[in-house]
Amino acid sequence: MAVKTIRTVGDPVLRLKAQDVSAISEEIVAVLADMVETMEHYNGVGLAAPQIGRSLAIVVIRPSEDLPVFEFVNPVITSCSGQDIDIEGCLSVPGTFGRVSRCSEIELEYQDRQGRRKRLKAAGLFARIIQHELDHLAGVLFVDKAESILPEEAES
Ligand code: NI
Repeated sequence: MAVKTIRTVGDPVLRLKAQDVSAISEEIVAVLADMVETMEHYNGVGLAAPQIGRSLAIVVIRPSEDLPVFEFVNPVITSCSGQDIDIEGCLSVPGTFGRVSRCSEIELEYQDRQGRRKRLKAAGLFARIIQHELDHLAGVLFVDKAESILPEEAES
């Protein structure tokens, strides 16, 4: 396991459509471990594989410190309802925050690290993080769809 460098806006890998994972190889397990370690090192609530330079359909999410890390391989949102606007940031767009409209409730299909197909329902912040991370797999950053970008905070 290793903390990886976070790719930032302007890096072409962030704009690629991530490749589906065909089999959970040892390499994929290693990518998952690197992603979790990198997310925790940078205190992120979520991380998508392209953010560490791997164009693969994998995301890891830790919506709060008292919850375990969720690992989603080949995730697909199958249902999206309601609407909620809140402020987002992204490790790949450092120092920038903006208001983004997201579905307030979603259903997700994915595979776990054993390759088993699973479904999950999510709402609120957890649903928001999932939508943000899945956008990374489509080459989309939150600044592309933000309704407004917040003014930079004055240096203290
Ligand atoms: Ni992000």
